[in-house]
Amino acid sequence: ALVVRQQMKSSGRWARAMAIVKEFEEKCGTPDAKLKQVADAMTVEMHAGLASEGGSKLKMLISFVDNLPTGDEKGVFYALDLGGTNFRVLRVQLGGKEGGIVHQEFAEASIPPALMSGSSDALFDYIAEKLANFVDEEEKIFHQPPGRQRELGFTFSFPVMQTSIDSGTLIRWTKGFSIDDTVGQDVVAELTKALQRKGVQMRVSALVNDTIGTLAGGKYANKDVDVAVILGTGTNAAYVERAQAIPKWHGPLPNSGKMVINMEWGNFMSSHLPLTDYDHALDVESLNPGEQIFEKITSGMYLGEILRRVLLRIAEEASFFGDDVPLKLKIPFVLRTPEMSAMHQDTSSDLRVVGVKMKDILEISNTSLKQRRVVVELCNIVATRGARLAAAGILGVLKKMGRDTLRDGGPEKTVIAMDGGLYEHYTKYRKCLENALSELLGEEIASSIVTEHSNDGSGIGAALLAASHSQYLEDKSR
Ligand code: GLC
Repeated sequence: ALVVRQQMKSSGRWARAMAIVKEFEEKCGTPDAKLKQVADAMTVEMHAGLASEGGSKLKMLISFVDNLPTGDEKGVFYALDLGGTNFRVLRVQLGGKEGGIVHQEFAEASIPPALMSGSSDALFDYIAEKLANFVDEEEKIFHQPPGRQRELGFTFSFPVMQTSIDSGTLIRWTKGFSIDDTVGQDVVAELTKALQRKGVQMRVSALVNDTIGTLAGGKYANKDVDVAVILGTGTNAAYVERAQAIPKWHGPLPNSGKMVINMEWGNFMSSHLPLTDYDHALDVESLNPGEQIFEKITSGMYLGEILRRVLLRIAEEASFFGDDVPLKLKIPFVLRTPEMSAMHQDTSSDLRVVGVKMKDILEISNTSLKQRRVVVELCNIVATRGARLAAAGILGVLKKMGRDTLRDGGPEKTVIAMDGGLYEHYTKYRKCLENALSELLGEEIASSIVTEHSNDGSGIGAALLAASHSQYLEDKSR
């Protein structure tokens, strides 16, 4: 009798857990019709954001980049890339028309978590210090002609209200950073002060978002690049807009007639987005409630955390992992997206990787194959929703650019430069995004729209923009 009762209890629990999973799956559904609504909403918000400052949740920030690299850029330039879990310093030697990228070196460091919520000076001092070390090392190897001003492209991947190509104030932090005294400050001035404190002679010639850097780096490699999308810790997109289509731009019309726009699409919001209770709870408990909703269901910082929340729910409400709720499962952000990706892509017949991760990260040992399958299924639901929404976002941008339909002269080739750890390393996510995009565009047009990985385009792009801006200054003073 006891055994029978035990079995009934466990099958009741299983049924309850499955009901929760099923409900979650339904709420996360992204049929094509819904994705098209999301894409249309994206296009509408793009118009609104371009019309007036504050006209939309989409900030549609003006980058002050009206010319993308031509290939003529020449000289040695530095770049600093700050924006996610890691930051990078680069040194790029550009050889002009014939030479291309002659040489590049980089160093990478992670940002100590304490610095993400400390003081502005502490963060910028840390960065300046790493940059100083890098410059010293490099210049020991590559002798620098004395007296030459070093120039830097600063990739700062947060929403910035640019005041020129080489200055701009931080609107707010995203992606887990929260340093109050930086908000409203000119981040170039902050960096320059820190460089002076460390005695580094360097001039910041360009301040760019990572999407802008990726667009510039992408264009340098392939002239058909007109859009850049980042899918990493956060998510965002930039594209080339006609200057005349930007009513809020009151500056002089650029000669090129173009202006690159940093959309900050991570902050996109629409009633069409498939949001669940887990997403609402994640948002409310986040450092930036009400902000970056699109980012919170699409990007690398959050996917693993959504998965954790669903697992916790089935543990609490359906005793999915036994009578006790595993303690580790209660810790926000313990389950990171790279681990989720590894579980999702486990090809072993007994889902060994899932078993190991559950044990190592969550201290849940002896999971059954059946349980592991549920975990994989949840990974799939979370990743599929994110990837398909990202595809819908891209469709929205292509619509705004008029590249989603056949033109008289036949389809116009558009290359989308893609970067970010999520895109680069989470293969299933990437494949799902690519499939969804082709599906949405239809066969004929899909063949002229290409997504291309732009490997570290953002750092190189910043160096290129530093180069072209420095050129511009020299021309002006001549
Ligand atoms: C966040 C930032 C944005 C950046 C993106 C990708 O959305 O606000 O500026 O481009 O992450 O790194």
